[in-house]
Order: sequence, then structure tokens, then C-alpha cells
Amino acid sequence: MLNALKPQAEDKIVRMMAMFRDDPRRDKIDLGVGVYKDASGLTPIMRAVKTAEQQLWMAETTKTYTALAGDPGFHAVMTDLILGDAVPRDRVAAAATTGGTGAVHHALELIRMASPLARVWVSNPTWPNHLSIIDHIGVAQSNYRYFDSDSCAVDFAAMMADLEQVRGGDVVLLHGCCHNPTGANLTLPEWQAVADLLQRKGAVPLIDLAYQGFGDGLAEDSAATQLLAAQLPELMIAASCSKNFGIYRERTGILITISPDTATSRLAQGALAHLNRQNFSFPPDHGARLVTMVLSDPALRTDWQAELEAVRLSMIKLRMALADALRAETGSDRFGFIAQHRGMFSRLGLDEAAVETLRQDHAIYMIGDSRMNIAGLNAATVPVVAAAVARVLGR
Ligand code: LMR
Repeated sequence: MLNALKPQAEDKIVRMMAMFRDDPRRDKIDLGVGVYKDASGLTPIMRAVKTAEQQLWMAETTKTYTALAGDPGFHAVMTDLILGDAVPRDRVAAAATTGGTGAVHHALELIRMASPLARVWVSNPTWPNHLSIIDHIGVAQSNYRYFDSDSCAVDFAAMMADLEQVRGGDVVLLHGCCHNPTGANLTLPEWQAVADLLQRKGAVPLIDLAYQGFGDGLAEDSAATQLLAAQLPELMIAASCSKNFGIYRERTGILITISPDTATSRLAQGALAHLNRQNFSFPPDHGARLVTMVLSDPALRTDWQAELEAVRLSMIKLRMALADALRAETGSDRFGFIAQHRGMFSRLGLDEAAVETLRQDHAIYMIGDSRMNIAGLNAATVPVVAAAVARVLGR
């Protein structure tokens, strides 16, 4: 039976992780997968998370199951963190999922269950796994233009022109902040225009919020989500705690739905629990419990927010340093956008051959579309990367 399986296309981010791991060069630089690294190249456990973990180890008396949709305390703190007071809670349903990816997967299954003919619109480009999960679940998909490769900025006019094709009941997948892979983001007035368009079309936003706190700030990064949630009758949010709590391997995420009324919200809550049961039964709890503890304890929360803010500011500093170094190396402002972009990534606008040369000749790893993980840099590697990019470009 198993020999009938077809070889699977490799995920390019996962492939890059393996190539980096297997590269014996000691001076190799990893700007591939979206994992935060501090100045010494480590992905630390955040202080508040470690403290919560110690407290949990002492206090936890059982490992029996939580609720099928996960701990309601986790739903409550995450809903507060993401939505503030934008929506009454009787319109909100939620389920803990296996990471933000699990939430995206569930959202697409929910779409297929509720509206099998719905079309999902994704930005071009988007996180590659969005495309493969959509394909795997078997939902129809269309692209909307998003990024202008010449200016390395959002092409908002093209995006809006494409979204004019959206039909009532279609779903539009949006990156709530810190667009992956480009790092180019909408302004709040642009988000307002998107909200108005979706409302006029009767379309449903699915917001992927994987980097809250990594862009303009914890509250600022949920502003677009809150704007859409306050205005539209229906919305889905797939949120991840991997990055902003640094708990990647704990696989902690949540799918939140907002329904037009309480009765629909109850249906959504039932469907979310059902999806958990069908896919993996009860969700993992350890990471979700740590997040709940950190967000519910004022001292832990303050410390977490301070550390997250330091992480965010360190990435902005690296952005500015790299933009400056590239300006000096190339004698042009071509890479000035890096300082304007926000989040973990920027797409440099290099072709695949240049990315490959960076890897082969300079042991610098980024994704083939020239997406760079800014957090993979440090003060010592910024000049190395800038010089290598200039060299590859023949400057
Ligand atoms: C990324 O885009 O690098 C992250 O979201 C990690 C992943 O799983 O791809």
C-alpha cells in the first residue's frame, strides 16, 4: 500500500533548516526559518515563561485532559490580548490548536465544512505553508497581488483591484501584522479600506496573527485585527504563541471565530471542538497553560511584555544597521526599505541565483525568494551579510 505514495514536494523553509544544519562551515549564518535568536545566536526561553514553568511544575497535580476545545482560561486571555474590547464575547468562539499552523488548518477545514464552494484569497506572496494547507484541505484558492518587487513595498492599488473580484462568502486570508515573507505591511487607513471592501462584498477575513508584538508593538500589532473585528459580522483569527512567547516546540495556538450572533457562535464553538476531536482529540495544554499564567499574573505579564519589547526593538535596530551597511556597501538606497519593514522578515528582492551564491560562496542562508530572517543577524554578522550581498550584486 505505502509504495503507492507519491513523493511530497519539500517545504522550502524546512529544507533550508536541514541544509543549514548539515553545512559544516563554522562561519555559516542562518537567516532562514522564522525563529528568534538573541545576539549570541540562542533562542532563549523567555524569563516569564521559565518562571511560569517552574510554578506549574510545583503546582500541577494532574495531567488529565482539559476541555476538548482547550482550557477556557486560555481562550479568555488570548481573546483579550488579540481583540481587546472590539467584540462582545457572546460572539466569540475559540479552540486551542497545535500551534498557529494547526489554527490555520482548522480554519480551512471549518470553511470547507460551512461553505464547500467558498474561495480563499491569499496574498501573492504568502507563507508557503498557507498554499500547501489550502491545497491539502482541497479548498479553492485565488491570489491577490500584494507586493511590488521594484519598490519592495505593498502595492495597495493592485491589492484592492484584485480584491474587487472577491464574491460574497469568499474568504480573504490576511496577515494581521508582520507580513510573511515580505515584511511590508498595510497602514491603518489601508486596513480600513480593506474592511470597507470586505463588508461591501460580504466576504469573510481569515487573519493569520503569528507575530503579534514583533512589529510596531503588542497593542499596535492587533489594531488591524480589532478594526476588522469591530466592523465585520464574521471573522476568523488563527493566532500563534510560538514567536511572541518563544514556545515554538510547545505548539501553542488558537483559532478564534467571531460570529454575527450568539446562536451562530454556539454552532461555531461546537464545530471547533469537533475539529479538535477529529484531528487530534484534546489539544496540547502545557504551552497554553504557560501563556495563561503569564498573561493572568501582573508581575509575569509585565516582565514578558518588557522582554518582548526588547526583542522587537533589537530587530528594528538590526534592520537599521543592515540598511545602513547595505547603503555603504552598494552606494545606493536600494535596500532602504529594510529599515521601514516590520516583523521578522524582509524580502530583499534578489533572484534565486543570487540567493544560491550567497549560500554556496558565503554560507549565508535565506529562503530562495530572498526572504531574510532579520532576527538571525547580530552586530557581527550585519557587515558580513551586507558585504556578501554587495559582492553577489557585483558592487
Ligand atoms: C517561518 O515562516 O519561517 C515560520 O513560520 C516557521 C515555519 O514553520 O515556516
